[in-house]
Amino acid sequence: MPTISKKGQQMPQSPIRKLVPFAEQAVKNGKSIYYLNIGQPDIKTPEIALQAVKDSNIDVLAYSRSEGSENYRKKISGYYKTHNISVNHDDIIVTTGGSEALLFAFGSIMDVDDEIIIPEPFYANYNGFSTASGVKVVPVISKIEDNFALPPIEEFEKLISPKTKSILICNPGNPTGYLYSKEEIKKLAAIVKKHDLFLIADEVYREFVYDGNTHYSIMQEAGLDDYAIMIDSVSKRYSMCGARIGCLVSKNKSVIQTALKFAQARLSPPTLAQIASEAALETPQSYFDDVKEEYVDRRNTLITELQKIDGVKVAKPKGAFYCIAELPVKNSDDFAQWLLEDFNVNGETVMVAPAAGFYSTPGVGLNQIRIAYVLKKESLIKAVNILKEALKVYKD
Ligand SMILES: Cc1ncc(COP(=O)(O)O)c(C=O)c1O
Repeated sequence: MPTISKKGQQMPQSPIRKLVPFAEQAVKNGKSIYYLNIGQPDIKTPEIALQAVKDSNIDVLAYSRSEGSENYRKKISGYYKTHNISVNHDDIIVTTGGSEALLFAFGSIMDVDDEIIIPEPFYANYNGFSTASGVKVVPVISKIEDNFALPPIEEFEKLISPKTKSILICNPGNPTGYLYSKEEIKKLAAIVKKHDLFLIADEVYREFVYDGNTHYSIMQEAGLDDYAIMIDSVSKRYSMCGARIGCLVSKNKSVIQTALKFAQARLSPPTLAQIASEAALETPQSYFDDVKEEYVDRRNTLITELQKIDGVKVAKPKGAFYCIAELPVKNSDDFAQWLLEDFNVNGETVMVAPAAGFYSTPGVGLNQIRIAYVLKKESLIKAVNILKEALKVYKD
C-alpha cells in the first residue's frame, strides 16, 4: 500500500471545522444549531459587487495575469491610500484569498526548518500553512488577563535563533479581537530591523476596529519597506468569503518577484471574483459604518451575556469579530462535542470552536473556546443562554 507523506500526516485538522460531522449528525437528529464556530459573516455582500458579475459580458472566461489584473491592482492601491498606506500597484500580488497570500509569503521567505515567531493564540490555519511549508512555529504566549496584548518584546527576543526568519501578527486579531497599538507595531518594527527578520501582518480585519480606535498598519511604519509583508483579503471586508480574493503587499521588490513565481505556478487568481472585488471597492462608507455598528452591538451583547455566567472569563475584543472565552471546564474539545451530541435547550444547541487548536504550545487553551459573533443579537443571546445552561449540568 503506498504511504501518505509525513507532512500530510502532520497537517493539523482545523479546530473550526473538525466538529462538523457531529454538527451534521445533530441536525439529522432534529436539533437546531447556533453556529458560533466559524467566521462566516451573515452580512450581505455589497450589491455593486454581485451586479458587476451579472453585468460582465464575457465570451471566454480566461485566466487573468498571475499577479492579478492591473486595473484591479491600481484600484486597490487607491483604496490603501484612503487608509494612509502608500503602495503602488506593482507592490501588490492578487491571490486566491488571504490564505494563498500567506502561503506565498511563507514560501517566498522561509525554507524547511526555518522558524516563525507568532503570538498565540493565533488564527489556527497558520499552523496548517507552516506545516505545508515545512516551517516551525515558535509561539510566544499572549494572555487573556492582558486582553491578549503584545507580549513583552523581550519574550520575542529570547526566542530568536539563527533559524528565525520572521514574526507574524494578525491585526486586529483572530481569535483574540486584540488591536495592536502604534507603539506595539513600533516595538515589532525595531526588533525585526535589529535581527534582520521579516514582519508579516495579516490585516484582513482592518475595517473591523471599534470604540473610536484606529488601525495602524505595518505598511505605515517608516523604514520598514524591506521587512514588511502585508496580507489582505476581501472575504470579511465585503462579506465575500466565497469570492476567494486576497492579496500580498510588500515594498520589498525581491519578495514580490519571488511571490510572483509562486503566483505564476498556479497561473492566476479567479477572474470573475476579481471583477466582483474591483467593483466592491466602490462600496460606500455608509456600508462599513452600518456593519461596524452591527458588530459593536453584537460584541457588547455577547460580552455582557458571557460575563453573567459564573466562572467564565472573557477578553473584550477591540476589533475583528471573535472573542476567546475561558470556561469552567477541563477540556473544551470534549465540551464542544458534548454540546452537539448530548445537549439541547428546547431542541437548540451551539457550536463553538475549542481554542486549543489556536495555540501551538501543547496543553494551553484547553479550557478556552473561540466565539465568532457572526449572528444577530437575538441569536447570540439565545446561544449564550444555551452555554450557561450547559455549564450548569456539564460534568468533565
Ligand atoms: C486572520 C485570518 N487570516 C486569513 C484568513 C483567510 O481568509 P481568506 O482566505 O478567505 O481570505 C482568515 C479567514 O478566516 C483569517 O481569519
